This record gives sequence, structure tokens and C-alpha cells, in this order.
Amino acid sequence: MKISDKLVKDRIFLKSNWDILEFNSSDQAKKKTVPELEKPCDPKKKIIPLLPKEKWKNIGRISLKKAILNRQSRRKYTQESLTIEELSFLLYSTQGVRKKTEKYSLRTVPSGGARHPFETYLFIWNVEGLVKGIYRYLPLEHSLCFEQKYIKGMEKKLNEATLEQFWKPAVYFIWTAVPYRTEWRYIDASPKLVALDAGHLCQNLYLACEAIRCGTCGIGAYDQKLCNEFVRADGKDEFVIYLAPVGKV
Ligand SMILES: Cc1cc2nc3c(=O)[nH]c(=O)nc-3n(C[C@H](O)[C@H](O)[C@H](O)COP(=O)(O)O)c2cc1C
Repeated sequence: MKISDKLVKDRIFLKSNWDILEFNSSDQAKKKTVPELEKPCDPKKKIIPLLPKEKWKNIGRISLKKAILNRQSRRKYTQESLTIEELSFLLYSTQGVRKKTEKYSLRTVPSGGARHPFETYLFIWNVEGLVKGIYRYLPLEHSLCFEQKYIKGMEKKLNEATLEQFWKPAVYFIWTAVPYRTEWRYIDASPKLVALDAGHLCQNLYLACEAIRCGTCGIGAYDQKLCNEFVRADGKDEFVIYLAPVGKV
């Protein structure tokens, strides 16, 4: 197969690029302010606390071995709801903060340089105690920010944005990338690091789902513009990078 010039160029992004990095030209080296660890929640919006890990009672009774052996992409869900406890577990498994300082956070997933360049939006469709709509996880507070009230037809919009892959899940995870958090330190090597980091989020989601009789499927085929619009990301400094529907199986 003859590959296009575009592909040849794009493959550069998959390489290390460490040899061309000039670390002293990074914003970190220039002592520019450390990027915020999470996007703040607009003070006019409601914040909903999630269940802390110390209070989980019905989570993760299966072994890690079993979760790994059973993991598969699941695209059919029952119409059962998820509990807040289950949602808290899934969010903590994908972005939960183990330790934080002013400048960085350590989480349940690894991230190149602990930059964690993501925001997690949720389209909540069937979670006990939460009205339908779009929420965003606040990892530092382990809470939800209620971003957008449900309006009729939102699920159709998401179905279109995901190229007919809505599949009626209880909740749809929509991850955006905020690349500057990584670029602040790693400049031109950042795109590869951000993409690698995204894989870790979703793999933890797959395994966490197996532990609570849920299923998920990584979604990389989606309409970029429609997905950005759905979560109101500007498409330049923040854009959708990966999605994953979750439901009971
Ligand atoms: C990066 C990535 C993107 C994917 N995108 C889609 C997608 O858009 N639609 C879909 O049905 N499955 C998607 N999948 C799921 C794969 O098709 C699936 O992992 C693969 O067929 C292997 O099946 P398994 O996960 O059950 O082992 C994606 C998986 C990954 C890792």
C-alpha cells in the first residue's frame, strides 16, 4: 500500500520526538503559571458530591484476575440504572485523585509527567438520584458539576455525534483533552503522551465495569465537531478525544 503524504507526516506524532525537544523553551522552563489541574465549575452551577471510597459497600467483589479475563467491549445494556456508589467507583477508577499538591495530582491512572490532560463529561441517562443531563467530574473534589440540564432530543444529538453509537447506556463517558497541561512541559512531544494517557483512562473503565456487572466500549469513531458542541468544548484548547458508553449487562 502506498501511504499518503499526510499519513507520513502524521506518523511523526507517534514517535518519541524527545531528540528535538528544547526543554528550556517550554512554558514550564519560562516559569509560566502551572496550568490548572481541573477546569473549575462555574459558581452558578450545582455541585453534587459523590460517594467517597471509604463508603463503598457493594463494589469490586470480583478478583482482578476475573475482571481481566472477562474484559471485552460490550455494546448491549439492560435498562437498569446505576447507583451513585457505582458511578462514584467508575469515576474514581478513571480519574480519582490519590494525592495532590498545588502543582500536580497523582491519580488512579498514570499520566506522562502527572499532567492529567483530561476532563470527564457524563451524559447521565439512568443513574439513581441524578436528573438526566450533562455533568462533569471534578476529580479534586470527587464531585460532579451539573453542566447542562437535559433537553428533549439530547440523546439523539449524542447518537448523531457518535455516528449512531448511542446504544442507550445508563451513562456515556465523554473525555476531552486539554493539551496545554502536557504542552506546558513537553512541548512538541505532547500529542503522543496525551493519546497514550487516554488509553489508560478507558482501560481502567473497562476493568472497573467488569467488577460491577457493567459493560463499556471505547469509542474512537465519532464526529469531532458535533461531540465538541455537545459538551461545549471550544475545539481548540479543549476537544473530545475519546468516549465510552456504560450500562448494566
Ligand atoms: C481506541 C479504540 C477505539 C475504538 N472505537 C470503537 C468504536 O468507535 N466503535 C466500536 O464499536 N468499537 C470501538 N472500539 C472497540 C474495538 O472494536 C474492540 O476493542 C475490538 O474489536 C476488540 O474487542 P474487545 O474489546 O471485545 O476485545 C474501539 C477500541 C479502541 C481501543
